[in-house]
Amino acid sequence: MALKKIDIEPLSSAMGATITGVDLSDNLDNETVDDIHQALLDNHVIFFRDQTLTPERHKMFGRHFGSLNIHPYVKGMADHEEVMEIIKEPEEKVNFGGGWHSDMSFLEEPAMGSILYAVETPPIGGDTLFANQHLAYETLSDGMKDMLGGLVAIHTAGEEYSRKGHSAQQRVSMDVKQIDEAPTYEHPVVRTHPQTGRKALYVNRGFTIRFKNMTRAESKPLLDYLYKHSTREPFTCRFRWQPGSIAFWDNRSVQHYALNDYHGHRRHMRRVTINGDRPF
Ligand code: SIN
Repeated sequence: MALKKIDIEPLSSAMGATITGVDLSDNLDNETVDDIHQALLDNHVIFFRDQTLTPERHKMFGRHFGSLNIHPYVKGMADHEEVMEIIKEPEEKVNFGGGWHSDMSFLEEPAMGSILYAVETPPIGGDTLFANQHLAYETLSDGMKDMLGGLVAIHTAGEEYSRKGHSAQQRVSMDVKQIDEAPTYEHPVVRTHPQTGRKALYVNRGFTIRFKNMTRAESKPLLDYLYKHSTREPFTCRFRWQPGSIAFWDNRSVQHYALNDYHGHRRHMRRVTINGDRPF
């Protein structure tokens, strides 16, 4: 077997790995792209340090893995609509992504992956947590697995993006009417990863509102249990950002949470999101 060009160092026993030996601003050969893709499938989130990515190069890296998403509610950069800036200013209180979620589960075809690049990081705090949703599923009882296997959940962006706040994100968000009219989509509560065949829990506090054919009140107790279970500490890893760090996560396998513990400091990230398929 050919030796890999990249080095892969696991971050926690649940998930996550740091990759070295590659400059993502280079023109990557197919072998390196395949190795990075395999590392993503094996570890669910992969991290890189000391990278320099212009928005153009950020998009080029993302396009190795699929077409790029243009966010329906948050405007992208002026000359790069596929690149979303995630900025929290020192005086702001609300951050973007400050709750457990899987990116874009409110779309009919939710995002496959997200690639987040740190431009400016606070001297304290601002880490991101990730939780492995395969482990979350696999540690449920057989009875619970059987029951969830028959359930479908309803997802929408309407509630999360209409929360009032003062984040930089909301200053650039699209109009509220559009958010109020956000569509809902149905996804299986247990989804099968299209590449690995592994099952994962697929409900999240950010965008799931209820089970299909049930009221919100009926859905809430079980959803609350699943939200708590799916983000238990043994399923997680935590990433400390520095300028030039990159996290690339698989939204079909993980949820993530941007910690909001750095008031008085600026945090500036850029995200490229890779389109995915309809969950099954
Ligand atoms: C996000 O939810 O994509 C933001 C994550 C972060 O800023 O750490």
